[in-house]
Amino acid sequence: MRVLLVAGARPNFMKVAPILAALRRAGDDAILVHTGQHYDATMSGAFFRDLDLPDPDHHLGVGSASHAVQTARVMEAFEPVLLEERPEWVVVVGDVNSTLACALVAAKLGEEVGCRVAHVEAGLRSGDWRMPEEANRVLTDRLADLLLTPSRDAEANLRGEGIGPEDVVFAGNVMIDTLLARLAEARRRDQPGRLGLERGAYAVATVHRPSNVDDRVALEAVLRGLALVAGTMPLVFPMHPRTRARARDFGLDALLADVVALDPIGYTDMVSLVEGAAVVLTDSGGLQEETTVLGIPCVTLREQTERPITVTAGTNRLAPWPLTPDGIAATTQAAAAEARVPVGARSPEGWDGRAAERIVAALAARPARGASAVAV
Ligand code: UD1
Repeated sequence: MRVLLVAGARPNFMKVAPILAALRRAGDDAILVHTGQHYDATMSGAFFRDLDLPDPDHHLGVGSASHAVQTARVMEAFEPVLLEERPEWVVVVGDVNSTLACALVAAKLGEEVGCRVAHVEAGLRSGDWRMPEEANRVLTDRLADLLLTPSRDAEANLRGEGIGPEDVVFAGNVMIDTLLARLAEARRRDQPGRLGLERGAYAVATVHRPSNVDDRVALEAVLRGLALVAGTMPLVFPMHPRTRARARDFGLDALLADVVALDPIGYTDMVSLVEGAAVVLTDSGGLQEETTVLGIPCVTLREQTERPITVTAGTNRLAPWPLTPDGIAATTQAAAAEARVPVGARSPEGWDGRAAERIVAALAARPARGASAVAV
């Protein structure tokens, strides 16, 4: 089987790594394409090294731009690669602009190239169309031939949108494959110790959503909330480049005085830091899932989540909306006071380190486009 995998932005790399490894183990022909949506050493190169990802076979080098320009650039650059490589499957993961851009190119060239589209992390919905990711999710799912879901709630979302069950396969959460594979190494790294932090007695925060950082009032509320938390326990804040830039542009840097502000950190170091924390505050989707598996209380700084299972089954809760400094601080205090849950005790079904195997099996079970083999 010949499979082309697309990775574009930071949260894609830990999803693609186990799928690539499982394809190679099965003796399949795997082609890795990096769109270059994320390009800084701290946002991309460090992850490739950390996750033992090989250099991509194709690097599209698209970089940052407006949504329309970035999406269009990925499409333009991806089309000739697809025509050259002619895979049987194009596998896209997650919900970033690169995901939709490549799915759209592959769907339109499917007949000519003989490929089909598989979407890993299908069926997640926030219901909030102001999020650029929501458009990416819904449209990618509509274009995909095979929808690989991370949790059971995703299946219900797809059913509700009229997507036939024959195209949907429950795969589980592939990001957790990477988490469990790297956990021992993360513990050895002892990132809390290196930063002089006492295990179980500090907070970790990440913020990068446009709704939280691109608006001055919203970012000020978040940073004031983090400052309040930092008054009660050390707070480590690895900052996305977008957040760092907006805090500077809005003149809010003084609010960072009491937090430990860092540049973005690599995957394993981040797991090391999170695993030792009392509580995590975040607007990232991935961290809501990782904290659920690690048993660390998580406070999500968003109005809603497309990963409700992390709230109903896991360790996640939403901060009161609209976000206020006091609301963030009070919710964090309540979360941090909770007893820590053992690793895996709250893991939803299929968050077990074997999702990549199930994904590769699902791809292999479907005949190539135009072939008449019977699915096994
Ligand atoms: C993107 C994804 C988001 C994901 C996030 C993870 C979309 C619509 N958004 O958001 O779903 O949660 O990645 O990080 O695809 N920048 C750099 N260096 C980089 C990359 C970005 O400095 O390597 C800066 C640039 O100023 C850029 C800004 O960050 O304009 C935003 O980058 P972009 O890729 O557009 O979106 P993210 O906010 O990273």
